[in-house]
Amino acid sequence: MSETVPDLLVRDLAQVATAAGREAPLRGADLGSIEVVEDAYVLCRGGRIDTVGRMRDLPAIDGDVEELDGSGLCAIPGLVDCHTHLCFAGDRVAEFALRAAGATYEELHAAGGGILSTVRATRAAGAEDLRAAVERHRGWMRRSGTTTFEGKSGYGLDHDTELAQLEAVRAAGGVPTWLGAHALPPEFDDRDAYVDFVIGDVLPEAARIAEAADVFLERGAFDAEQSRRYLEACGAAGLTLRLHGDQFTESGAIPLAVELGARSVDHLEATGAEGIRTLAASGVTGVLLPASALFLDRPMPPARALVDAGAAIALATDFNPGSAFCESLPLVCSLACTQLHLAPEEALAACTVNAAHVLGRAERLGRIAPGFLADLVLLDAADWRHLAYHLGGDLVHAVVERGSAVWSRGA
Ligand code: NIG
Ligand code: FE
Repeated sequence: MSETVPDLLVRDLAQVATAAGREAPLRGADLGSIEVVEDAYVLCRGGRIDTVGRMRDLPAIDGDVEELDGSGLCAIPGLVDCHTHLCFAGDRVAEFALRAAGATYEELHAAGGGILSTVRATRAAGAEDLRAAVERHRGWMRRSGTTTFEGKSGYGLDHDTELAQLEAVRAAGGVPTWLGAHALPPEFDDRDAYVDFVIGDVLPEAARIAEAADVFLERGAFDAEQSRRYLEACGAAGLTLRLHGDQFTESGAIPLAVELGARSVDHLEATGAEGIRTLAASGVTGVLLPASALFLDRPMPPARALVDAGAAIALATDFNPGSAFCESLPLVCSLACTQLHLAPEEALAACTVNAAHVLGRAERLGRIAPGFLADLVLLDAADWRHLAYHLGGDLVHAVVERGSAVWSRGA
């Protein structure tokens, strides 16, 4: 790759803001430790960050370099969305209207709608349609500053559609996660039998495409024993383990995540004091999804208590058609500050460094530092904290991936 990417100088930036140090995941006071360089440049060579510094210290540069004028703009690391369900067909706008009229998400799911209505649409779509859907959603994310995304399966729940979802995520450059245990499909009436089926018939091929496995451990989905059986088999096949847990009820997700050495447990809207203590004392990262809590009018996760107790947290969109039709990490940062009581500094680290850690990429993604992949977002503001301050704002001016401008406003 490196020979073909022209060098890029982003110059005259009002600020460059990035998490300090090289550690990941960041916890406690370190989560809020952001370095800001004023009147700055970023030099990218061969798709990686070469140097970052003050304009007055900019050295003479050999060879051809493309330039990007950063006057009045800030650069932050490309945002990392470590929890999305972007591979789906159809939409759930009719259910959204029913929820607005008072129906709950769990009631719609129990009546055969919810996740299962997206399963019907996704099974009916062909592999090409799924690829097109991922590309479309990925484009929305990029325009909001996301340069790295994870994408889960879980809307197929049969052999072919689960694998087609994982392939579609991988083809678009995403990080595929196999969510084989998301819901019970209509052709099964027994959850244990379904878990047997996915372990026996889907896991061997899913493990060749996916990097991680995920399960929906929840009342009405899979219980702790079924989740354990699924995750143990996935771990034995070499997959990193993740869980959807404590979304509506505390049903044992945190203890299971800690016991199995999972990378993350995600949602945590229902997590209480004991769960906070257990997670904080562990190596498992809590992925917080405030857009989902907002979209479903549910309580927000106890983010402040988790950070203060020393837990590692990340932020993500949970982009999906049912519980969070939201692709914007800047909006999630706004919710983190206004609803989760995080500082803008903590929000930035949570959707860059710590999200990269959840995806196993923190040594090369999530920071603007020499040697890191040159993924940048240029914000249309002279103070980077507008990332969270501008609620729902259209503040992404340009997106650089691997040292190339891949999107800019008005281009
Ligand atoms: O993370 N809770 C489980 N899964 C998704 C929602 C999927 C859907 O509603 O389609 C979530 O919220
Ligand atoms: Fe999710």
